[in-house]
Amino acid sequence: MTDEADEFTFEAELADELEDEAEADAEEAAGTTVESLGLPMPALPVDEALALLAGGELELIGRLWVSSNNALLGVVRGDGVEAAVIHKPVIGERPLSDFPTGTLARREVASFAASQATGWGIVPPTVLRDGPVGEGMLQLWIRTDPEVDPVDLVNASDPRLRRIAVFDAAVNNTDRKAGHLLPVPGGHIYGVDHGVTFSPVPKLRTVLWGWRGEPFADEEAAVLRRLRARLDDDLGAALRELLERIEVRATARRLDGLLASGVFPQPDPRRPALPWPPV
Ligand SMILES: Nc1ncnc2c1ncn2[C@@H]1O[C@H](COP(=O)(O)OP(=O)(O)O)[C@@H](O)[C@H]1O
Ligand SMILES: [Mg+2]
Repeated sequence: MTDEADEFTFEAELADELEDEAEADAEEAAGTTVESLGLPMPALPVDEALALLAGGELELIGRLWVSSNNALLGVVRGDGVEAAVIHKPVIGERPLSDFPTGTLARREVASFAASQATGWGIVPPTVLRDGPVGEGMLQLWIRTDPEVDPVDLVNASDPRLRRIAVFDAAVNNTDRKAGHLLPVPGGHIYGVDHGVTFSPVPKLRTVLWGWRGEPFADEEAAVLRRLRARLDDDLGAALRELLERIEVRATARRLDGLLASGVFPQPDPRRPALPWPPV
């Protein structure tokens, strides 16, 4: 063998070795859960959480390898309180064909505002703020109940998911999969990943079709009416800071439509009804 060929073999071996190492790292990362890291996850009142998120010092710890939008895990520290957070910087957003580039973080914050207006506390406290790599959304990390599998909840059409289905119809959620449902000890279920919401085009994509065509319960209809009223008021003002005007107007029309029909929406055969992958 010539020296050159030797060199080539050596380089190929080195490349193989590096690849093996990267694979081992990925495997190790895949086995690590955020819960196993021992980060602080205090249960905070929403106001306190928002103050901490907006004003605390943000330290980023790593990237969530499951995330397609380069979501980062971090800790935010304030006066005597600290909490684990998820940060999705705008710069990490994957461009999509059906949403304007660089708008996902704001949609997450808009979804939090809508969730607060429902009074159902579906979306964990979320703010828009600057981080080490620019502006993004910052959301409290929620400690889930390891005993509860969200896929089982979906398959059983667990009644606690009804309000999330109502919320998704209101915000036009395009990505409600089982993995975006976070059951917590005590029975509450949070929803996360609301970056693809508020499109002016109807595109509800969800695994929560269990109540399609069924009438809204009185409380659900009352919440939709409240959302509609607040769109003409403080919620509308908050959403206009985060979304295009046409998207806020479309939300009003969507709510009018839901209230007029009085029933959970049905899948539209002309467009995809399920997010992909559904988990
Ligand atoms: N606030 C949160 N608390 C706990 N876990 C979360 C939170 N937000 C997201 N996750 C977890 O991290 C995963 C990735 O986050 P997600 O918002 O879905 O990012 P992406 O935009 O990349 O899909 C989620 O599927 C969920 O398991
Ligand atoms: Mg996701």
